[in-house]
Amino acid sequence: MTKTPKRYTITAALPYANGPVHIGHLAGVYLPADIYVRYLRSQNRDVKFVCGSDEHGVPITIRAKKEGITPQQAVDKYHVLIKQSFEDFNISFDIYSRTSSDTHREIASGFFKKLYDEGKFVEQTSEQYYDEKAQQFLADRYIVGTCPKCGNENAYGDQCESCGTSLNATDLINPKSTLSGAVPVMRETKHWYLPLNEYEPWLREWIIDGHKQDWKTNVYGQCKSWIDQGLQPRAVTRDLDWGVPVPVEGAEGKVLYVWFDAPIGYISATKDLTPEWETYWKDPESKLVHFIGKDNIVFHCIIFPSMLKAHGDYVLPDNVPANEFLNLEGDKISTSRNWAVWLHEYLQDFEGKGDVLRYVLCANAPENKDNDFTWKDFQARNNNELLAILGNFINRAVVLTQKYYEGAVPTRGELTDYDKEVLAQLEKFPASIADLIERYRFRDALSELMNLARLGNKYLADTEPWKLIKTDAERVKTIMNIALQISASLNILMEPFLPTAAQKLSNMLNKPIGKWAEAGAADLLSDGHVIGTPELMFEKIEDAAVDAQVQKLLDTKKANDAANAVVEPAKEDITFDDFTKMDIRVGTILEAEKVAKTKKLLKLKIDTGIDQRTVVSGIAEFFNPEDIIGQQVSILVNLAPRDIRGITSQGMILMAEDADGSLAFVQPGKKLKNGSVVR
Ligand code: MF3
Ligand code: ZN
Repeated sequence: MTKTPKRYTITAALPYANGPVHIGHLAGVYLPADIYVRYLRSQNRDVKFVCGSDEHGVPITIRAKKEGITPQQAVDKYHVLIKQSFEDFNISFDIYSRTSSDTHREIASGFFKKLYDEGKFVEQTSEQYYDEKAQQFLADRYIVGTCPKCGNENAYGDQCESCGTSLNATDLINPKSTLSGAVPVMRETKHWYLPLNEYEPWLREWIIDGHKQDWKTNVYGQCKSWIDQGLQPRAVTRDLDWGVPVPVEGAEGKVLYVWFDAPIGYISATKDLTPEWETYWKDPESKLVHFIGKDNIVFHCIIFPSMLKAHGDYVLPDNVPANEFLNLEGDKISTSRNWAVWLHEYLQDFEGKGDVLRYVLCANAPENKDNDFTWKDFQARNNNELLAILGNFINRAVVLTQKYYEGAVPTRGELTDYDKEVLAQLEKFPASIADLIERYRFRDALSELMNLARLGNKYLADTEPWKLIKTDAERVKTIMNIALQISASLNILMEPFLPTAAQKLSNMLNKPIGKWAEAGAADLLSDGHVIGTPELMFEKIEDAAVDAQVQKLLDTKKANDAANAVVEPAKEDITFDDFTKMDIRVGTILEAEKVAKTKKLLKLKIDTGIDQRTVVSGIAEFFNPEDIIGQQVSILVNLAPRDIRGITSQGMILMAEDADGSLAFVQPGKKLKNGSVVR
């Protein structure tokens, strides 16, 4: 074991204030961070847990534009929403700040200024796309054009979402500004660059040699591959009117690049939290850990550390335990496609069940590879694990104690070998769970916690106090005492994972949640201590509840398909004469029946005003015969008769097809005389 650090500075990635938080964010970043911090607090370690909204950069301005509001209005809206949902989910930040704060502007500005004054930046002029109509330089996301790889005409200046290639804006064929539609021109602009290439030898030594053992392989691997490809100077300023202004002369209209200012947000949040903020960031005995998702790895392992190194006063991250991604029902989570379980919606739909989501997301966390969240698995883990194992054990222990002893903890008699063995096992759990948490293996830690509940269940199942009570009441006292001691340890050890359930259990045991060091002991609850009344920690989740969630996702999929359906391109021009050759009339459906042995066909009898005739139409999947009798339709009456399944069809009903493939009649807007001409 290495020496215990003097204090901990724990950060969780600042979410962009451009949309609500979803389960992917939680599983990847906020939940593991919160478990870690709650554990540290239980160990009486000195820890600060900081986070806040990332309120600058193009993601914000794009969102604002989409919603027709100002960037400030957009961040105000989402900052409040995100902050509240974290609170409701019991993510226990010591501060949830925001990068639009005065403190942040000051700290970020000062950081840049120091590096600038010390000549740590390279100043460089380059040509970038400029929109003359909108009178501004264009961030990559504001340029669309044809992808040189796949021909997609709506590729962005940084990426083609059709084929996934990452692009430079200058790669696009026929570039267009999304701001004004104008064709952008090249214009010179000056920016400041952090020469990452100069930090390469140091990064090699620090990461590749120094952190091979203790950083996760996915994190280490990504860093190594970046460094091995050779590092380039990286621009830390942008031409944009939303962000922290570049605090030097001749930089009007320029702001700090969002990835320069955002991680400094961790520091400014700490300053907003405590006057001792500098100790947490500058004393070498402070352990800095960044919790992030995998798309943030280079920023936290290479760019931000290089900034900190350039500055010189700050500690470097000790670890960056980034997770992989969580998928949802087999599909990548996506804000723009609304393919997500949004935290604030979950908390509404499953009121009081925050811990269930915490449990499922931790048990299934994408720690080493991408993972899938499904509602079936959610339900199964609640019903078969939380309820059947943990809830069941606690319930038995508490209910039987109430029943047999009116809630007073009974005194143990002489211990059997089995009792001793169980108590010996109990004693080992705090250390084994702690060891896993300290190595950022939260899934395994949770599974170890459940093993303790399993131990308790097995102990009761083996000793059967509910049978023994009739024959050997003295023995039952020992058994129940041991079951209660296990419950009390569970209470301490479960708190980082399941804080709400832990609070309930604490009420039931009538004892405040103790500290980690106390767990595992055989005498947490003293003889005669009176416990509280049983309550349900977990309840069964019924099919209807998860079915409703699955239906919600199916609806999303349908809406997406419809929104993405491409409108067919126009056909070639025809002459007016071509058009007038078609004799289209208003008619009324008199009879309708299914054509036997077909899925799609209906046989209709139509009054065309000219005559009554038979038409076979492929609409059976969308209409019941009885529903359409009496409806007026448009019918092409001079289409040459055709034989369909042995029936002569005389004409064609005009139908319109929706994006989802469903059909609708093309009907007159009011009732007309049959035979009226459509032209
Ligand atoms: N807003 C970024 C994202 O959601 C994360 C920023 S983390 C910080 O991907 F380091 F910049 F704070
Ligand atoms: Zn492409």
